[in-house]
Amino acid sequence: MSDKTEQRETLLRVEHLCQYFGRLKAVDDVSFDIKKGEVFGLVGESGCGKTTTGRSILRIYDITSGSIYFRGKRICAGTLSYNEKIRAAKKALKDASDPAEIARLKEEIEQAKRDIQSARHDHRHSDEEFAKEEMERIRREYDEKIAQAPDAAAKEALRKKCAEKLRITKNTRLINQIQMIFQDPVASLNPRMTVREIIAEGLIIQGVRDKEYIDRKVYEILEMVGLTREHAGRYPHEFSGG
Ligand SMILES: Nc1ncnc2c1ncn2[C@@H]1O[C@H](COP(=O)(O)OP(=O)(O)OP(=O)(O)O)[C@@H](O)[C@H]1O
Ligand SMILES: [Mg+2]
Repeated sequence: MSDKTEQRETLLRVEHLCQYFGRLKAVDDVSFDIKKGEVFGLVGESGCGKTTTGRSILRIYDITSGSIYFRGKRICAGTLSYNEKIRAAKKALKDASDPAEIARLKEEIEQAKRDIQSARHDHRHSDEEFAKEEMERIRREYDEKIAQAPDAAAKEALRKKCAEKLRITKNTRLINQIQMIFQDPVASLNPRMTVREIIAEGLIIQGVRDKEYIDRKVYEILEMVGLTREHAGRYPHEFSGG
């Protein structure tokens, strides 16, 4: 790993992820980090748990055990490992006679209980806390921009832009930051919608109302992936599979 990669921000951290469906252990103790700008490939035989890992990150499931962090913030946490710790410590307590050992085991149980509380808290409140932090970040960013703006008109324009961003961010969900891209265009794209409508839909759902901004974004995204703005009016079936 180069020095440059070392310094990059860790976007996603998966720690001891377990996802069980009853007795079936679809994902069992998986850990990895993804840094900003890095392309991360997860490879393995069919049924080894790749899709389940992705779905767990998207919080489609309540994970069984382990933690997932996004930009350093824990966004989901499971409690199985803590419950197992409690069970094991309680069992050991029955046979323990040394007072120091008993105290240690009791403290272990208390710690695991605190870990469960904290996991539940992070699981429930990560969305609202994430929105709050994002709003603070936007406020700081725009305060600085406004202070540096050359005149009153520029300051006012920035204030408006900031207010619009804050309005959208207020309802932001972590899920807006992490996306799953489905590979089969026939199954995943609505055949009755144009490319423009399909791309704009996500922005509209996120609360963007400015039509000009939406158009600009749609063209920007098309160009980013090697298409042109002329493609915006087409339907999915008007593209070749490649
Ligand atoms: N919702 C579910 N309920 C029960 N079992 C499930 C569920 N989702 C997946 N599984 C099982 O979990 C295991 C992992 O499945 P997963 O789809 O994550 O594998 P995969 O690595 O994505 O496989 P593929 O390469 O075929 O896409 C499989 O045994 C699968 O049958
Ligand atoms: Mg899969």
